[in-house]
Amino acid sequence: MKIIWYPAVSLDGYIADDQGQSDWVTSDDAGMFDDLVQQSKAVIVGRKTFDQFKGELYPVTGATTYVITNNTKRASDDPAVVYVAGGALEVMRSLSADGRTQAVLSGGGEINGLFAAANLIDEAWVSVYPLILGSGTKLMGSYAGRLRLSFRQGYALPHGVVHNRYDVG
Ligand SMILES: NC(=O)c1ccc[n+]([C@@H]2O[C@H](COP(=O)([O-])OP(=O)(O)OC[C@H]3O[C@@H](n4cnc5c(N)ncnc54)[C@H](OP(=O)(O)O)[C@@H]3O)[C@@H](O)[C@H]2O)c1
Repeated sequence: MKIIWYPAVSLDGYIADDQGQSDWVTSDDAGMFDDLVQQSKAVIVGRKTFDQFKGELYPVTGATTYVITNNTKRASDDPAVVYVAGGALEVMRSLSADGRTQAVLSGGGEINGLFAAANLIDEAWVSVYPLILGSGTKLMGSYAGRLRLSFRQGYALPHGVVHNRYDVG
């Protein structure tokens, strides 16, 4: 199973401002994210991110959205939405059981940290925005460990966004 982490982050390391907004994400970047999700057929999000964008971005049409929660009672009547109660390994089990070979890790911060701590991120596709937000949701939530990244490719996107791709580990 390959996990590709795709965050959009400010220069000072935030994925959302202190109002929980990331409305600075550009359409070019959102389009690249969607292309990767369509190719992977699976996207992983935390329950807070899913609830925030439910009916807009999520569930992503053409893919299955795996929503991580601690709430074992949460269930979906939409076959395109799978709630997984438990940590990152439970999500990996669920993806494998569904025959997936690749999934996009979207966030938010807590879920990013969960996958980093479990050493489950294979690639990082990171869009860096020319913004200093000062406060907000940290890229990795409360995770304070390290990740070793090997740079593969970088792209300059419109509006000063730099998109870098790394192998992790
Ligand atoms: N710019 C970007 O790339 C990007 C991408 C995605 C999201 N975001 C932003 O990130 C923010 C949300 O991030 P967040 O860190 O606050 O929340 P989050 O990661 O989206 O979701 C947190 C939730 O995940 C569940 N969870 C966390 N740890 C768990 C564990 N060990 N086991 C099982 N479930 C667990 C819990 O759900 P329950 O409460 O249901 O138990 C928790 O409340 C939003 O503002 C969103 O807009 C930005």
